[in-house]
Order: sequence, then structure tokens, then C-alpha cells
Amino acid sequence: MSKKVFDTYSKYYDLLYRDKDYAAEADYICRAVKDFIPGAKTLLDLGSGTGKHDEEFSRRGYQTTGVELSEMMHREALRNRDKLKGSGKYPEYKNADIRKINLRKKFDVIVSLFHVINYQTENEDLNLTFRNVNRHLEPNGVFMFDFWYGPAVLHEKPLKRLKIIKDEHLKIKRRTTPFLKINENKVDVKFNVSVKNKDTGKELTFEETHSMRYLFIPEIELLLGNNGMKLVHYEEWMTGKKLTEKSWSAFAAAKLK
Ligand SMILES: C[S@@+](CC[C@H](N)C(=O)[O-])C[C@H]1O[C@@H](n2cnc3c(N)ncnc32)[C@H](O)[C@@H]1O
Repeated sequence: MSKKVFDTYSKYYDLLYRDKDYAAEADYICRAVKDFIPGAKTLLDLGSGTGKHDEEFSRRGYQTTGVELSEMMHREALRNRDKLKGSGKYPEYKNADIRKINLRKKFDVIVSLFHVINYQTENEDLNLTFRNVNRHLEPNGVFMFDFWYGPAVLHEKPLKRLKIIKDEHLKIKRRTTPFLKINENKVDVKFNVSVKNKDTGKELTFEETHSMRYLFIPEIELLLGNNGMKLVHYEEWMTGKKLTEKSWSAFAAAKLK
């Protein structure tokens, strides 16, 4: 993924996803952490965006570090962190590429949430990311991520969508047009966004295309295996149900071999 992809989008990201229940997602992850590695203290979040999960992990007592490629998303995370002042532990943030960063320390838990792994669209991107996870994971640590589950993407097919979000100052309309690239296991998701400022009447429009790689269990096993890890669990994201051709969002957990 290029550094520029989330640039304009970053300003509106938190508003566009204000209904996303980051607290419930953090609870779901923390329950899994307790199963896999009770007593875990340190947590690395790869592709941490504006830091919404990290606030929740810090609040639950984890010493949290987030790594984010987009400078603009990273800046939003720092701004969000400033608002937490006085409320206990704070996450640490690095503006860097999860495929390359070397923090020279290891973590009990590594997470990568809200489709970050799908943004690693080439085999080499996935290999570098998983290799880097291996480098940063404590020997008994756990790596957990969510991803678009290939069988469901092909069965359900990505659809055009319209999302409208308002607050007291802005009205945002986001049109999503997906292009399925069936031989590349990718969907190019084109966002056409218009942002109307209700105070000034001015309207800004912009377009971003996010390329997403959907994944299948055997290739995840292979990619993890090539990078010294093994898949230890997978299920439907947030429900814990068995994966089916209707489970668009999946959850996976891996450990070192
Ligand atoms: C959909 S957002 C999710 C952000 C955050 N995890 C959340 O749950 O709100 C995907 C994020 O992954 C980041 N990302 C994608 N590829 C990356 C890479 N190679 N290194 C670091 N960050 C990356 C993007 O910049 C973007 O902020």
C-alpha cells in the first residue's frame, strides 16, 4: 500500500467509523489474549490507524505500541492521544511500515485489526509482514488479525454501497464501488467522498481507491509457516462461529512454531 492512500480520508476516518464498536472489539481480542497468553502485558498494533483500538487496549492495562504507515492517520492518532491526557496509560505511536519496522523489542501480543492484513496485497507484502511479526513476537506470544475471508467474498460478491454520516458541522457522503479482480484475489474498492461543511456551505470531493487482498485458510497457513509461525485458531470475526461462505470477516490467531 502506498503511503498516500489514507491521506485525505484520514481527516474523516473517525467520523465515518463513529458507529464502529472499538470497545467491544477490544473486549473480544482481550478475551482471546486471556485464553492464549494469560498475564500478557505488552501489545503491538500493526496498522494502528487513528489509534481507536489502542486507546481501548491501554485502558485495559496493556502497554501498547501502534505502527501506522500513513503520516496523516498517525497524526490523527497523536491528536486522539492528546485528548486522553490524565486518563492513565497512553499508547506509543510510530509512523512506519509494518513490513519493515524494527522496534528492537518483543511483544506478548501482536494484533493487526480492521483489514490491515488485506491491504498487504502482494505475496511479498504478506511475507514481509509475517516475517516482521515473527521478529517482534515473544516466544510464547500470540499474533491475532482479522481478514476478508476469500470464500465469502466470492460467494457474496462485493457490492456498491452508499454511506451518509452527519455531525453538527459536516455531512459526508461516501459512495463505494468495488472492482473484483478475480485472478489476483483482490478487490479494488473505489471511494467517492463528498464532504459538505454545513457552516460555510462549501463542498469538498475526493476519490481514493483501496486495493484489498482476500485470503484463504491454506494460503494463510503457508505464509505463516514460511515465516516460522503456525495457525492455531480461526473463526468468524466477533461471533466466534465456524467460518462459512457467508463469513466475510474472519479472525485468525497464530503462534511461533
Ligand atoms: C482500515 S484502516 C484500520 C486502522 C485501525 N487498525 C482501525 O481499526 O481503525 C487500515 C490501516 O492500515 C494501515 N496500513 C496499511 N498497510 C500498512 C503498512 N504496510 N504499514 C503500516 N500501516 C499500514 C493504513 O494506513 C490504515 O491506517
